[in-house]
Amino acid sequence: MEHIFSSSIGKKLVMSLSGMFLMIFLIIHAGANALALFGREMYNEVCHFMDTNPVIQVMVPVLALGFVIHILYAVWLTWSNLKARGVQAYAVGTKTQASSWAARNMFVLGLIVVGFLALHLYHFWAKMQLQHFIGGHASDDPYSLVAALFRQPLYVAIYLIWIGALWLHLRHGFWSALQTIGLNNSKWLARLQTIAMIYASVIALVFAAVPLFFLLGLDGGN
Ligand code: HEM
Repeated sequence: MEHIFSSSIGKKLVMSLSGMFLMIFLIIHAGANALALFGREMYNEVCHFMDTNPVIQVMVPVLALGFVIHILYAVWLTWSNLKARGVQAYAVGTKTQASSWAARNMFVLGLIVVGFLALHLYHFWAKMQLQHFIGGHASDDPYSLVAALFRQPLYVAIYLIWIGALWLHLRHGFWSALQTIGLNNSKWLARLQTIAMIYASVIALVFAAVPLFFLLGLDGGN
């Protein structure tokens, strides 16, 4: 007998629950980022809070686990779907919904998101929160770290490409996740697509605002 978490629907369910958890993280992360637009003091304060608050420290490994589960199941689901191709072993939604570009490319979009995430963690997290974990020296001015990176057009371009891939991934992922957990009657399908579009766009715009803010010198260049 197939186990619940290894059946097709079980895998989709794990993908959607871990995905929703990561989407909540993104709301918090984008919110914290937005404080950079209000100046050095406020931003450094929120970074310090994130790096030292005990609840956040407990949540960091949970977040990492969320990513690991989401990625491992993505590989497993994609692999099973490839094996079953042609048999139409598993399909959710109608043909038109399932054949949107983002829907067909969720795995590739996910690879782009996670690939750039590694670079991103190296840029910031490794110099900030990680240092608190390993007893090293954390940056005492995260604002300057962020500002310095985003004064370089190449990195702004890289981050904008990353955020574009994330936007596509979220636009389909949000909708698909809610559909998987059961919000899939015809009245809700259209509504969910709008809600997913709003969620993905707001997250992407807030993330994009920070690099553009520094690139355009809106911080006053200090
Ligand atoms: C331009 C937009 C972004 C900026 C300015 C930014 C900034 C930062 C900074 C400063 C940290 C280090 C926080 C600390 O160590 O206290 C961090 C950590 C992190 N970021 Fe971002 N980030 C951006 C976009 C993203 C995106 C799009 C994702 C996910 C797809 C992401 C995922 C993470 C993760 C997983 C961590 C480590 C966990 C944590 O400290 O919360 N970030 N980010």
